[in-house]
Amino acid sequence: MDRIRIRGGNRLNGTIPISGAKNAALPLMIVSLLTPGTLSLSNVPRLADVRLLQRILQNHGIDIMVAGKRAGQNGMMGDVMHLTAREIADTTAPYELVSRMRASFWVLGPLLARCGEAKVSLPGGCAIGTRPVDMHLMAMEKLGAEIAIEGGYVIARARKGLKGAHIAFDKVSVGATHAALMAAVMADGDTVIENAAAEPEIGDVAECLVKMGAKIEGIHTPTLRIRGVTSLSGAEHSVIPDRIETGTYAMCVGMTGGDVLLKDANAGHLAAVFDVMRRAGIGVEAMNEGVRIHRNGHALAPVKVDTSPYPGFPTDCQAQLMALMSMAGGTSMIRETIFENRFMHVQELARLGADIHLHGDTAEVRGVKKLTGAPVMATDLRASVSLVIAGLAAEGETLINRVYHLDRGFETLEEKLSACGADVSRLAGG
Ligand code: UD1
Repeated sequence: MDRIRIRGGNRLNGTIPISGAKNAALPLMIVSLLTPGTLSLSNVPRLADVRLLQRILQNHGIDIMVAGKRAGQNGMMGDVMHLTAREIADTTAPYELVSRMRASFWVLGPLLARCGEAKVSLPGGCAIGTRPVDMHLMAMEKLGAEIAIEGGYVIARARKGLKGAHIAFDKVSVGATHAALMAAVMADGDTVIENAAAEPEIGDVAECLVKMGAKIEGIHTPTLRIRGVTSLSGAEHSVIPDRIETGTYAMCVGMTGGDVLLKDANAGHLAAVFDVMRRAGIGVEAMNEGVRIHRNGHALAPVKVDTSPYPGFPTDCQAQLMALMSMAGGTSMIRETIFENRFMHVQELARLGADIHLHGDTAEVRGVKKLTGAPVMATDLRASVSLVIAGLAAEGETLINRVYHLDRGFETLEEKLSACGADVSRLAGG
């Protein structure tokens, strides 16, 4: 298994290109199940999760073509992917595949909408809390599906097709909103989704669906109004920049000091994160080409932050913020409100010398003067990148094991950081 080796202490200076958003690319790929036409996605990040979803979608009968390199194209540009689901060959999403990536459960809605039936494995355990799918199933039932759970599978049927409905979620869920939206666009009649997640990735999917012929109002708001259509066509769509990758590299620069342009980043999607970073004393400037992050010598100020649904501070940046605050000049309080158990990084950060105490859903992070490199273990996607942030500032060598977690969500991380002066390399195998 590959490992990442970081020798800490270098400031970051230069440009880091931001890739397309993983959490938009995955549902956008799934949307292709809804049409016999070709959906052409550009700016698709080259990530292990994208490759895995390709395999899952191919199992349903989707033909996928990833365009080859073009003259003048730089290696950091995303892929162009053409997806065509002329016919759905198989409405089953097997356990072996769904258990490896939770987002693949989202095929349930489009399969039901297009074929009137779907058999999708329950996603199973996950390192960051119980993560149920009850809201997904509630939305499908409201839309007229009959649901049974047998042998670990959700078996859903809508023999006469889906019917428009009023769906009011009692909690904000990104996944359940995707599921309801992707199913309702081809249901018979009108659907209202209340308390919908308003994450930019949902808006991106909705905008793509509109290009395909869907009728959706209230995009980017918590109330989505959908008028069902009988068919959707192919379309071309470019994936939005990854706001979590943006926030992560911004915190890398905040941690080491320096001056970096996060090229193509969208500052508007990260208002809550940048607000916290400014309060900590980090320079953040939105520019035409992206976002400039800079810090020169000042000590970081501690912060008090609660994670919350968009536009609040994202849970997917919580671990990274904790790494950043581990060297602040005082005590920070970071409360996780979305997922229980999303604190696996605390023990690993402690191995580098961080002083963090957990009180229920809140982490008390007492800033220390220095961190020291050590071997550590990546436990999930965002947790593992928090170890990179800490490693960049730690004295000596940090070796991160189980790097496959990082590869699920960060494209060429070591290349992007090295290009700005960090001493980061990938050690193959072992
Ligand atoms: C998505 C993101 C993930 C991010 C999360 C929260 C992708 C691929 N994943 O995950 O990176 O951390 O949003 O912003 O885009 N819940 C229920 N019942 C359900 C569904 C969810 O109770 O049926 C709960 C969850 O346990 C959790 C909360 O709702 O407490 C939010 O979960 P949700 O937004 O659905 O997360 P994901 O879609 O899995």
